[in-house]
Amino acid sequence: MFANRCIPWIAAGLLAGVAALALAGCGKQEPTPAGTAPPPPAAARVLVVGTDAAYTPFESQNEKGEIAGFDIDVVKAIAGKAGFEVKFVDTPWEGIFNALDQGDRDLLVSAITITGERRQTMDFSKPYFEARQLIAVKRDAQVARFEDIKAMKVGVQNGTTGDEVVGKLQGKSSGNIKRFESTPLALKELEAGGVEAVVADNGVVEHYLANNPGGGFRTVSDAAFPVEQYGIAVKKGNAELLARIDKGLDGIKADGSYDKIYAAHFGSTPK
Ligand code: ARG
Repeated sequence: MFANRCIPWIAAGLLAGVAALALAGCGKQEPTPAGTAPPPPAAARVLVVGTDAAYTPFESQNEKGEIAGFDIDVVKAIAGKAGFEVKFVDTPWEGIFNALDQGDRDLLVSAITITGERRQTMDFSKPYFEARQLIAVKRDAQVARFEDIKAMKVGVQNGTTGDEVVGKLQGKSSGNIKRFESTPLALKELEAGGVEAVVADNGVVEHYLANNPGGGFRTVSDAAFPVEQYGIAVKKGNAELLARIDKGLDGIKADGSYDKIYAAHFGSTPK
């Protein structure tokens, strides 16, 4: 490659009497010196995983600033099985799909529900987790089912499936829907009394309540909420990476490591 590219230049340079210049120019492009490894092929590069790390127990930052959680362990295990390396980068939910589309992230793991709409702009792995929406209210609230929060001020994380279901109930442009950058912010607002309910993924709401016994919250489930499946997202058309992820996922389900990760985070094995 080096020789091919440079020979015409060297020849031209010699003819023009500026051989030295031409050689100096080519020298800059000289491949790695003997003994050092050539640059790794694309597949061997460390893949950048985007995650909105404010979603315990799926993804959050620990005291050391490391990103950890169920999703993180699942992707690490998949990467180990499928033979690729990953690094996790905290990526706000608001820009997360754009970051994937722009190529700033190779994949996303962020408790992302696979939806028909999202499938139009990105590709998803096989489902790796099942979830549902869950309502959090103050203990004394008059709420027994989803319908009961129709006229209430409801907090959601902007652009999530929680936002979507509440939008269906109240009308998308309802002034009673308060959209927050993160789910913890919505829950804080419930505590502060700024909203009367929060609708978010069950795992996160349950975890929050369990860790904030003083918050005075209660949960309300409703069978009307559809079952949601989380998937790992890749850029639309990245079939090669998707196949590796799916293969890795099959592998960690078959060898029991998925169940171990599940138990470590949720204290039981998946139903
Ligand atoms: N499952 C929901 C959705 O896909 C919420 C996901 C939010 N995830 C996060 N890490 N903030 O819309």
